Amino acid sequence: MKSIVIYYSLFGHTQKVAKIIAKKLDSDLLKIKSEKAYNIATAVIEGKNDIETKHLPKLKKYNFNANEYDLIIIGSPVWWDSITPPIRTFLMENDLSEKNLKFFSTFGQSNGHIFSDAIEILNNLEDVKAFNSTKTNNNHKIKMEIDDWLG
Ligand SMILES: Cc1cc2nc3c(=O)[nH]c(=O)nc-3n(C[C@H](O)[C@H](O)[C@H](O)COP(=O)(O)O)c2cc1C
Repeated sequence: MKSIVIYYSLFGHTQKVAKIIAKKLDSDLLKIKSEKAYNIATAVIEGKNDIETKHLPKLKKYNFNANEYDLIIIGSPVWWDSITPPIRTFLMENDLSEKNLKFFSTFGQSNGHIFSDAIEILNNLEDVKAFNSTKTNNNHKIKMEIDDWLG
């Protein structure tokens, strides 16, 4: 079974989870980047506006062919209770409606409504998992949580 972990990460927490999952499942790994990169200041101000308006930032070129994969795992940090704009763009520009999907988030305080927002786009998404970003500093804990989720 061929799988891929596709993620966006600004500060590395989501990337850490994505890499552990990819290693566990021997998956490909794809980091999504917007053409105009966010930083802490622009994420807080422009990111909030982009989320409220569901703006789709242009992404840096990436190589992805959904037909190559039996399982697609998507990871996003929670921003303002929702999906990060680069992941929203990715989900809007790729048809994943026939795919076996999993979706994970990393969050600081609360997972918000990221999963219902993801399911609104990905009607076939049923398997979701939230990771508290503080736990990503503890390799053992985060690996146990990933094992619990993915078996
Ligand atoms: C712009 C911005 C908005 C955020 N909004 C939330 C939020 O609404 N709820 C929450 O629990 N954490 C929020 N966080 C914290 C992140 O979800 C958390 O630190 C996440 O693990 C960061 O992932 P990364 O290190 O992969 O970028 C926010 C962080 C940023 C930068």
